[in-house]
Amino acid sequence: MSHTLKARYPSNIALVKYWGKYGNQLPCNPSLSMTLDKAYTQLQLTLSEKHNHQIEFEYYFEDKLNEKFGDRVLRYLQGQKEFSSLLEDYALRLESHNSFPHSAGIASSASAFSAISAVFLHATNPTLSQNDFNRQASHLARLGSGSACRSFYDSYVLWGHLEEIPESSNEYAVPLHEIHDNFRSMRDSILIIDEQPKLVSSSMGHRLMKNHPYAPARFRQGKEHSKKMIVTLKNGDFDAFISIIEREALTLHAMMMTSVDYYLLIKPGTVFMMEQIFQFRKETGLPICFTLDAGPNLHLLYPENIESEVQDFLEGYLQTHIKSIINDRIGLGGSVN
Ligand code: DP6
Repeated sequence: MSHTLKARYPSNIALVKYWGKYGNQLPCNPSLSMTLDKAYTQLQLTLSEKHNHQIEFEYYFEDKLNEKFGDRVLRYLQGQKEFSSLLEDYALRLESHNSFPHSAGIASSASAFSAISAVFLHATNPTLSQNDFNRQASHLARLGSGSACRSFYDSYVLWGHLEEIPESSNEYAVPLHEIHDNFRSMRDSILIIDEQPKLVSSSMGHRLMKNHPYAPARFRQGKEHSKKMIVTLKNGDFDAFISIIEREALTLHAMMMTSVDYYLLIKPGTVFMMEQIFQFRKETGLPICFTLDAGPNLHLLYPENIESEVQDFLEGYLQTHIKSIINDRIGLGGSVN
């Protein structure tokens, strides 16, 4: 006997960055993200009854057996006591597809691990209320990849404890509900500057924050920015929004450039486009800003009502400085069935 479950979970883009962790995947500062819409992982779990004690687990990514990521997923599953009976009683097959190209600089571990934890939690405990499900799945997803814990909720999501938000926690993410109309229909145009796989993983980047000379100041700043961003999302202040987001992106990369084993993930094309964005904003006064993940590709954030001006502006750089553009937008959390 076998049965299947399906999950679809989005990626998210951090406005305030998680960079540095302690203990069991706990963040050194709170982070705050926007959930994406078009960038998601579609996951199918097939459970087939088995009668031996051997683990039978296969992970397929884009229809191909992927042993490397499969080993990481299996280690993660074996580490969660909630999932031990599933591993014992069933042969498990995961089939994963991303709606976005691997090289796009979209956090694929965020959508993958949110989908994986959701589908396994649902298989173990299908009767949880929506609230309990999201909280437990967010907690479990965090143990697989930190940023994944923020993919369970719509729009804007906080992960990390802040005194001002009583339900907030370092263990799981919580949704932010008080959002000004200015920030409700945001666009995220992802400018693909470079498609090469990055040379230094995020896990290594987090580790390099351990003895980083600027770490204490950075963790204080991340906390202050999270608090300010929550207020900004309520009051609709675009200037504050832009200033926090760009400072966060540049600080993230400054941390990479100033760690003991320093490295650089941005490319000349990244710097060129950042300068064009500064210039475009100065000339037009339009509320547009950029952020970066741990890679060279820029995420341009702006409200829906200036979409045509932004697309005209970007048109001028397509093919010359930008390889391609993925036009995403603010989205809803995922679901499993
Ligand atoms: C720069 O969540 O990928 O995207 O917990 O080791 O899997 P692990 O790290 P990961 O780090 C994300 C870093 C970031 C910032 C962010 O998403 O907050």
